[in-house]
Amino acid sequence: MSHKKTLVSGIKPTGRLHVGNYFGAIKQFIDLSNSHESFVFIADLHALTSVHNPEVMRRNILDIAASYIVLGLDPEKTTIFVQSAVPAHSQLAWIFNCITTMPYLMRAHAFKDAEAKSKEINVGVFGYPLLMAADILLYDAHVVPVGNDQKQHVEIARDTAQKFNKIFGDVFTLPEPLILNEVGIVPGTDGQKMSKSYNNTIGIFDTDTEIKVAVMKIPTDSRGVEEVKDPETCKVFALHKLFADEIELAELRERYVGAKIGYKESKEILAANISRFVEPFRNKKAEVDADPKKLIEILTAGAEHARTVSNRKILAIEEAVGISLK
Ligand code: ADP
Ligand code: TRP
Repeated sequence: MSHKKTLVSGIKPTGRLHVGNYFGAIKQFIDLSNSHESFVFIADLHALTSVHNPEVMRRNILDIAASYIVLGLDPEKTTIFVQSAVPAHSQLAWIFNCITTMPYLMRAHAFKDAEAKSKEINVGVFGYPLLMAADILLYDAHVVPVGNDQKQHVEIARDTAQKFNKIFGDVFTLPEPLILNEVGIVPGTDGQKMSKSYNNTIGIFDTDTEIKVAVMKIPTDSRGVEEVKDPETCKVFALHKLFADEIELAELRERYVGAKIGYKESKEILAANISRFVEPFRNKKAEVDADPKKLIEILTAGAEHARTVSNRKILAIEEAVGISLK
């Protein structure tokens, strides 16, 4: 039995990964993979709440799998799998459906946002947080690395674990979100949170030209080169914090407050730094994409291990609930 703490997280296959996903979530998956028993999956059942095109779905699933490997997740250290290949996730979500009230779920941000925008809300969107709770609790996760936007979902998972434990006995570990201060909300090219759904992303595999075009769009105030600028409110500077080394960042800060840099130059430096950062990923991505068989092998082995672990847990859960006749 391992004495390591357990890490669980996932990303929906709804489009190409961006630098917000990398710094907000994936980097933590990688950094913690030695010290934690790690389960990182592709949340295809969650994506099904919005993606209803099978070809797009299939392509996106493989794209996220390839991205995980290219960005540095090692299948020897992290169990990488597709959520739907592990039936216990859906089984547990149903059990959670049966102990959760509608008014409680109606308080979830994602549901409220969808309602405010008068979107057509399917039952999957409404139950989304409980499937996510199942993803997390099934593996007795201690740590869930996510961006700030997922904080409430991890809190719902924790509440659900507490509620279940109170009704049926001590079955689940209470999870904690891991949200790093500097990267909890990476800004996008419109200054809002970077998100696949806002069309404001800088892709982690983008070309130099795409990066340059995206960076030039970041809104700034109208101060000229020789005016003092505030690094703490500037969105370009917020991104410098992710891509510049300490010395360069200190220099940039000095130039901002010393009225010695214009936004155009600041953006050019940023675009060059991002390009340098993503170049090795971009090159490796083409290589990994070219071998989908290898990817499928990794996902198959990962799902097998995840099924072994989660089947054991689901038996204990079913026993606690009284639906196991063994
Ligand atoms: P998106 O909002 O682009 O659709 P996802 O919902 O697929 O992103 O998020 C995958 C992971 O990346 C989640 O843990 C999420 O919190 C994190 N994440 C997404 N956007 C950002 C961001 N701009 N800053 C920090 N973390 C982010
Ligand atoms: N809801 C998460 C997102 O939109 C993805 C996700 C699904 C997840 N299940 C999870 C994240 C379990 C962490 C743990 O990004």
